[in-house]
Amino acid sequence: MLTISGLTKSFGSGANKLQVLKGVEMEIERGEMVALMGPSGCGKSTLLNIIGGLLAGDGGSITLNERTYGLKGPSSVVDVRRELVGWIFQDFHLLDNLSAVDNVAMALELSGMSASDAEKAAINSLERVGLGDRMHHIPDQLSGGQQQRVAIARAIAGNRPILLADEPTGNLDIASGKEVLALFKELCHDEEKPISILMVTHDPDLASNADRMLLLKDGKTEASDIRSAWGLDEDGEEE
Ligand SMILES: Nc1ncnc2c1ncn2[C@@H]1O[C@H](COP(=O)(O)OP(=O)(O)OP(=O)(O)O)[C@@H](O)[C@H]1O
Ligand SMILES: [Mg+2]
Repeated sequence: MLTISGLTKSFGSGANKLQVLKGVEMEIERGEMVALMGPSGCGKSTLLNIIGGLLAGDGGSITLNERTYGLKGPSSVVDVRRELVGWIFQDFHLLDNLSAVDNVAMALELSGMSASDAEKAAINSLERVGLGDRMHHIPDQLSGGQQQRVAIARAIAGNRPILLADEPTGNLDIASGKEVLALFKELCHDEEKPISILMVTHDPDLASNADRMLLLKDGKTEASDIRSAWGLDEDGEEE
């Protein structure tokens, strides 16, 4: 589904050059929920931005559902952003004055859907995230967890195969964070329409609920378990 090989990225030049990604290799299957961890500044958001078509890498490649990209600037990967990747952010990025249904529908209209189809699809995805009874509330009238679920409805409404979530639970209390995780798992493990999710989190407890954990370390990703994510030794344990 998603294959990344030899992906490199640096910022700056000369003495100020900072090599952030040093040959990332990773794969995500359809229906998999993968947690990405690593210390602040190690390049997690940079990696997500390149996968999401918001930033060009320097070397290597990304293949997502037959589409290969990674080194071209944002203007050359419009289709990746419109059709392949859905985003979920820490601070939800909802429009304050629009109801839940309009927040979701507007995103669909921007990608070319007619207003009536967009509204139907918006209602459908809000029902999927359990907000069928909150469609006409504006963000201020919703809890943080509910607002994040509106953002998730928006991200899944366009039937994109992968969601990229950059610290989606960072602004939520523990209980709401767990609910978001449970919803993610449901969406990934859906029998009819499984999607994949790559989620950055600093919370090892939430990460351990994913199907798999990756650690971004020294510019490369490696498989991780809960203890190595905490920086502990795995002495004697098999891989
Ligand atoms: N546009 C940019 N120009 C210069 N340096 C950048 C740019 N974007 C990111 N960096 C640097 O690249 C490194 C990786 O940043 P990134 O935001 O990917 O880290 P992160 O792992 O997401 O961190 P956090 O957990 O704090 O969100 C950091 O040292 C950052 O300062
Ligand atoms: Mg980040």
